[in-house]
Amino acid sequence: MIYPIVAYGTPILKVVAKDVDLKDPELKDLIANMFETMYNANGVGLAAPQIGLSKRIFVIDSGLILEEDAEEEGIKQAFINAHKIEEQGELWSYTEGCLSIPNISEDVIRPSEITLRYFDQDLVEHEKTFTGMAARVIQHEYDHIEGKLFTEYLKPLKRRMLKRKLNKITKGDVKGIKYRMKFPAK
Ligand code: NI
Repeated sequence: MIYPIVAYGTPILKVVAKDVDLKDPELKDLIANMFETMYNANGVGLAAPQIGLSKRIFVIDSGLILEEDAEEEGIKQAFINAHKIEEQGELWSYTEGCLSIPNISEDVIRPSEITLRYFDQDLVEHEKTFTGMAARVIQHEYDHIEGKLFTEYLKPLKRRMLKRKLNKITKGDVKGIKYRMKFPAK
Protein backbone atom coordinates (compact mmCIF):
# COMPACT_ATOMS: atom_id res chain seq x y z
CA MET A 1 0.00 0.00 0.00
CA ILE A 2 1.29 3.40 -0.96
CA TYR A 3 0.75 6.18 1.55
CA PRO A 4 0.44 9.85 0.64
CA ILE A 5 3.48 11.79 1.82
CA VAL A 6 2.78 14.79 4.02
CA ALA A 7 4.21 18.12 2.89
CA TYR A 8 6.36 20.77 4.55
CA GLY A 9 4.24 22.67 7.07
CA THR A 10 2.42 19.59 8.37
CA PRO A 11 2.71 19.77 12.19
CA ILE A 12 3.67 16.10 12.65
CA LEU A 13 6.96 16.75 10.81
CA LYS A 14 8.03 18.89 13.79
CA VAL A 15 7.15 16.36 16.50
CA VAL A 16 9.68 14.08 18.21
CA ALA A 17 8.33 10.61 17.37
CA LYS A 18 7.73 7.89 19.97
CA ASP A 19 9.11 4.37 20.24
CA VAL A 20 6.78 1.71 18.90
CA ASP A 21 5.62 -1.51 20.51
CA LEU A 22 7.80 -4.22 18.97
CA LYS A 23 4.99 -6.74 19.49
CA ASP A 24 2.61 -4.76 17.29
CA PRO A 25 1.46 -7.36 14.71
CA GLU A 26 1.05 -4.62 12.09
CA LEU A 27 4.68 -3.55 12.25
CA LYS A 28 5.84 -5.82 9.38
CA ASP A 29 3.10 -4.58 7.05
CA LEU A 30 3.82 -0.98 7.95
CA ILE A 31 7.49 -1.39 7.05
CA ALA A 32 6.68 -3.13 3.76
CA ASN A 33 4.30 -0.28 2.94
CA MET A 34 6.91 2.32 3.84
CA PHE A 35 9.40 0.72 1.43
CA GLU A 36 6.72 0.61 -1.26
CA THR A 37 5.86 4.27 -0.67
CA MET A 38 9.57 5.24 -0.76
CA TYR A 39 10.30 3.40 -4.03
CA ASN A 40 7.12 4.72 -5.63
CA ALA A 41 8.34 8.26 -4.93
CA ASN A 42 11.91 7.48 -6.09
CA GLY A 43 13.18 8.21 -2.59
CA VAL A 44 16.22 6.75 -0.86
CA GLY A 45 14.71 7.09 2.60
CA LEU A 46 11.34 7.59 4.25
CA ALA A 47 10.41 8.17 7.90
CA ALA A 48 7.06 7.40 9.54
CA PRO A 49 6.24 11.08 10.31
CA GLN A 50 6.28 11.65 6.53
CA ILE A 51 3.26 9.38 6.20
CA GLY A 52 1.58 11.04 9.17
CA LEU A 53 2.66 8.59 11.89
CA SER A 54 4.53 9.75 14.95
CA LYS A 55 6.57 6.55 15.25
CA ARG A 56 10.34 6.03 15.47
CA ILE A 57 10.61 4.07 12.23
CA PHE A 58 12.45 4.84 9.03
CA VAL A 59 13.51 2.88 5.97
CA ILE A 60 16.45 3.52 3.66
CA ASP A 61 18.00 2.14 0.48
CA SER A 62 21.28 4.00 0.14
CA GLY A 63 22.38 1.91 -2.87
CA LEU A 64 20.08 3.99 -5.05
CA ILE A 65 22.34 7.05 -4.80
CA LEU A 66 25.74 5.38 -4.91
CA GLU A 67 27.97 6.00 -7.90
CA GLU A 68 28.70 2.92 -9.98
CA ASP A 69 32.32 2.88 -8.82
CA ALA A 70 31.50 3.50 -5.16
CA GLU A 71 33.48 1.47 -2.67
CA GLU A 72 30.68 1.16 -0.14
CA GLU A 73 27.75 -1.21 -0.41
CA GLY A 74 24.20 0.04 -0.42
CA ILE A 75 22.19 -0.53 2.72
CA LYS A 76 18.54 -1.45 2.39
CA GLN A 77 17.04 -1.62 5.84
CA ALA A 78 14.38 -0.56 8.30
CA PHE A 79 15.36 1.17 11.56
CA ILE A 80 12.88 0.71 14.40
CA ASN A 81 13.08 2.62 17.70
CA ALA A 82 16.38 4.15 16.64
CA HIS A 83 18.28 6.29 19.14
CA LYS A 84 21.46 8.11 18.26
CA ILE A 85 24.51 7.41 20.39
CA GLU A 86 26.88 9.80 18.64
CA GLU A 87 27.89 11.46 15.43
CA GLN A 88 31.58 11.73 14.63
CA GLY A 89 34.08 12.14 11.84
CA GLU A 90 34.87 14.95 9.46
CA LEU A 91 32.20 17.38 8.40
CA TRP A 92 31.21 17.16 4.74
CA SER A 93 28.69 18.81 2.50
CA TYR A 94 26.15 16.99 0.35
CA THR A 95 23.10 18.17 -1.56
CA GLU A 96 20.00 16.83 0.17
CA GLY A 97 16.39 16.73 -0.87
CA CYS A 98 13.29 15.46 0.90
CA LEU A 99 10.08 13.82 -0.32
CA SER A 100 8.13 16.19 1.96
CA ILE A 101 9.84 19.23 0.40
CA PRO A 102 9.60 18.60 -3.36
CA ASN A 103 11.70 20.52 -5.89
CA ILE A 104 14.09 21.90 -3.28
CA SER A 105 17.60 20.63 -2.71
CA GLU A 106 20.35 22.32 -0.74
CA ASP A 107 23.81 21.58 0.55
CA VAL A 108 23.84 20.35 4.13
CA ILE A 109 26.97 19.89 6.26
CA ARG A 110 27.03 16.87 8.56
CA PRO A 111 29.62 14.67 10.31
CA SER A 112 30.67 11.64 8.25
CA GLU A 113 29.63 8.97 10.76
CA ILE A 114 26.69 8.14 12.96
CA THR A 115 26.38 5.49 15.66
CA LEU A 116 22.93 4.44 16.74
CA ARG A 117 21.02 1.74 18.54
CA TYR A 118 17.97 0.32 16.76
CA PHE A 119 16.00 -2.77 15.91
CA ASP A 120 15.97 -4.10 12.34
CA GLN A 121 12.89 -5.46 10.56
CA ASP A 122 13.46 -8.88 12.15
CA LEU A 123 13.37 -7.15 15.56
CA VAL A 124 17.04 -7.85 16.21
CA GLU A 125 18.72 -5.12 18.24
CA HIS A 126 21.91 -3.51 16.94
CA GLU A 127 24.39 -0.87 17.96
CA LYS A 128 26.19 0.09 14.81
CA THR A 129 28.26 2.85 13.19
CA PHE A 130 27.50 3.88 9.62
CA THR A 131 29.69 5.87 7.23
CA GLY A 132 29.53 7.28 3.72
CA MET A 133 26.19 7.67 1.92
CA ALA A 134 24.49 5.27 4.32
CA ALA A 135 25.37 7.60 7.21
CA ARG A 136 24.10 10.61 5.29
CA VAL A 137 20.74 9.01 4.49
CA ILE A 138 20.38 7.72 8.05
CA GLN A 139 21.18 11.17 9.50
CA HIS A 140 18.50 12.78 7.30
CA GLU A 141 15.88 10.15 8.21
CA TYR A 142 16.88 10.14 11.88
CA ASP A 143 16.24 13.87 11.93
CA HIS A 144 12.69 13.18 10.73
CA ILE A 145 11.92 11.04 13.79
CA GLU A 146 13.37 13.87 15.91
CA GLY A 147 11.00 16.35 14.26
CA LYS A 148 13.75 18.06 12.28
CA LEU A 149 13.99 18.95 8.58
CA PHE A 150 17.13 19.59 6.52
CA THR A 151 16.00 23.17 5.89
CA GLU A 152 16.77 23.90 9.55
CA TYR A 153 20.50 23.52 8.81
CA LEU A 154 20.48 26.26 6.20
CA LYS A 155 21.86 29.72 6.89
CA PRO A 156 19.23 32.37 7.76
CA LEU A 157 19.67 34.16 4.42
CA LYS A 158 19.16 30.93 2.47
CA ARG A 159 16.09 30.11 4.52
CA ARG A 160 14.63 33.54 3.89
CA MET A 161 15.19 33.05 0.18
CA LEU A 162 13.36 29.73 0.28
CA LYS A 163 10.45 30.96 2.37
CA ARG A 164 8.13 31.72 -0.53
CA LYS A 165 8.81 28.35 -2.16
CA LEU A 166 8.22 26.56 1.14
CA ASN A 167 4.95 28.39 1.72
CA LYS A 168 3.82 27.33 -1.73
CA ILE A 169 4.59 23.70 -0.91
CA THR A 170 2.49 23.96 2.26
CA LYS A 171 -0.41 25.22 0.14
CA GLY A 172 0.01 22.48 -2.45
CA ASP A 173 1.10 24.93 -5.10
CA VAL A 174 3.78 22.66 -6.58
CA LYS A 175 4.18 21.16 -10.01
CA GLY A 176 5.60 17.96 -11.39
CA ILE A 177 5.36 15.68 -8.34
CA LYS A 178 4.95 12.08 -9.43
CA TYR A 179 3.70 10.72 -6.10
CA ARG A 180 0.68 11.42 -3.94
CA MET A 181 1.09 14.12 -1.30
CA LYS A 182 -1.05 15.58 1.46
CA PHE A 183 -0.82 19.32 1.99
CA PRO A 184 -1.68 20.97 5.30
CA ALA A 185 -3.13 24.15 3.82
CA LYS A 186 -4.90 22.98 0.71
NI1 NI B 1 13.27 13.90 4.23
